Amino acid sequence: MRLVAFLFVAGAPSLSIADDSPVAADVATGKAVYSQTCIACHGSNGKGAIPGVRDLTDADGPLAKSDEELIGSITDGFQSPGAAMAMPPKGGNPTLTADDISAVLSYLRAEFGSSRRCGKPTNACNGAGQASKC
Ligand code: HEC
Repeated sequence: MRLVAFLFVAGAPSLSIADDSPVAADVATGKAVYSQTCIACHGSNGKGAIPGVRDLTDADGPLAKSDEELIGSITDGFQSPGAAMAMPPKGGNPTLTADDISAVLSYLRAEFGSSRRCGKPTNACNGAGQASKC
């Protein structure tokens, strides 16, 4: 039994390696960034913790935009016309790097997102020159 259990455990990671392992690493980093910097406003479920914050899980909502646009919104801040509240640049955390922002976007897409993912032709990772990470 012990041997069978070992083989199962040892075999499991190889099943998930495929071509998306860099994305998985990004998602883990992105989750850490999200829970430190974004969760206060966006909530753990992405639906928004305070009034005025857009629901990230809405299929026609913010995550329907391209990576390039969203990286711009997260980096520079964002306010739609007439919105009650603005998204602060880098979520208010100036220490976030371009890699952190790319990672948090991967997390948003994986956790709350539409089907668009890195590596798909419809969603080339053209934001901030991150193509090599996808
Ligand atoms: C102080 C509250 C606050 C924090 C912190 C915050 N956001 Fe936002 N975010 C907002 C609000 C408010 C909006 C909607 C602004 C609007 O529609 O005018 C928004 C919008 C967005 C959008 C949609 C942008 C678009 O182009 O439609 C994304 C993506 C996003 N936030 C990601 C993040 C990420 C990632 C972080 C953490 C790095 C973060 N936010 C931190 C308040 C916040």
